[in-house]
Amino acid sequence: MTAASMMAAPAEPLVSEGSAPVRIRGLSKTYRVGFFLNKQVKALQGLDLDIMSGQVYGLLGPNGAGKSTTIKLLMGLVRASQGQALLFGESPDRPHVRRQVGFLPENPSLYEYLTGREFVTLAGRIFGLSGHDLDQRVERVLGEVGMGRASDLQIRRYSKGMVQRTALAQALISGPRLLVLDEPTSGLDPLGRRQMRDIILAEREKGTTILFCTHIISDVEALCDRVAVLVGGRRVQEGSVQELVSARAPSVEMVVQGLPLEQLQSLGFVYEQAQQLDGRVMLRVPDADAHPLLQAIINRGGRINRVQPARFSLEDLFLEAMKQAGGQTVGGEIQ
Ligand SMILES: Nc1ncnc2c1ncn2[C@@H]1O[C@H](COP(=O)(O)OP(=O)(O)O)[C@@H](O)[C@H]1O
Ligand SMILES: [Mg+2]
Repeated sequence: MTAASMMAAPAEPLVSEGSAPVRIRGLSKTYRVGFFLNKQVKALQGLDLDIMSGQVYGLLGPNGAGKSTTIKLLMGLVRASQGQALLFGESPDRPHVRRQVGFLPENPSLYEYLTGREFVTLAGRIFGLSGHDLDQRVERVLGEVGMGRASDLQIRRYSKGMVQRTALAQALISGPRLLVLDEPTSGLDPLGRRQMRDIILAEREKGTTILFCTHIISDVEALCDRVAVLVGGRRVQEGSVQELVSARAPSVEMVVQGLPLEQLQSLGFVYEQAQQLDGRVMLRVPDADAHPLLQAIINRGGRINRVQPARFSLEDLFLEAMKQAGGQTVGGEIQ
């Protein structure tokens, strides 16, 4: 992705207030690959997605799941094979729609010999901004992404985190109502990731609608209202983070000492998880089984080290969804 393709044409009318910022119906994309373009990769298969105003929406999936393809379709950078993607109820190609959207591509590559300030100023000019208004906006967005002082250095001297934050400043320059971020925190060190998260949270506070895709589960848990899990080009889960995690029957986790795993396995309980740690065994069972199991363990001379409610995490959900989707995810990298 080049710096030029991250920016948009100047624009006139405003988008309609009532329409959802993002509406996707039956969206599919098949790429043709191979020397004779005779092979096909089904990157996206029949995706439906709605993002309402003010939501922070996470598109979570392993590498190759079709996340970037979805975003490129939304940004009008590739053509759909089937289905429709609308921004504020209109085609992403319309300049006045595009003007309402800030876009941070995956691994942005910026003009290395410009300073951060020059780059963001250029992005603003391409959006049709100028004069005092532009200068003020540049100052403001550089401050928002924590690049106020470093913005007079050439970009080639920047760390990965600084490049990423400058690219985000570019996405914010027009004061967008929708921010679309492709893997905003991947490749960053913990400090860089934290800074990026804080900027996203600050944007959320302002009421900006945000769509970001990631393979990093903790980012979704930290930032999102809703999440769609994408595996092999298909949506396998969708809902509020809270709903997805708490819709599960509660479980209990316990650590047992004094009984080997084999003996615990012969007690007739179905374990959600059973793991031998050194000298101890960690067990996870449905809430209803916890009491009879504790009794059975004590009756056989086992000792209970710890009992606690098990928190079902987005990570569990993600791993489960990947397992259900079968071999399509081999090689997918998750964090
Ligand atoms: N321009 C392209 N040409 C051919 N295949 C592509 C192209 N872009 C992506 N793909 C393939 O489509 C699938 C989805 O890719 P992508 O949308 O980049 O996934 P993600 O962003 O979730 O990692 C992958 O199998 C990828 O190799
Ligand atoms: Mg991607």
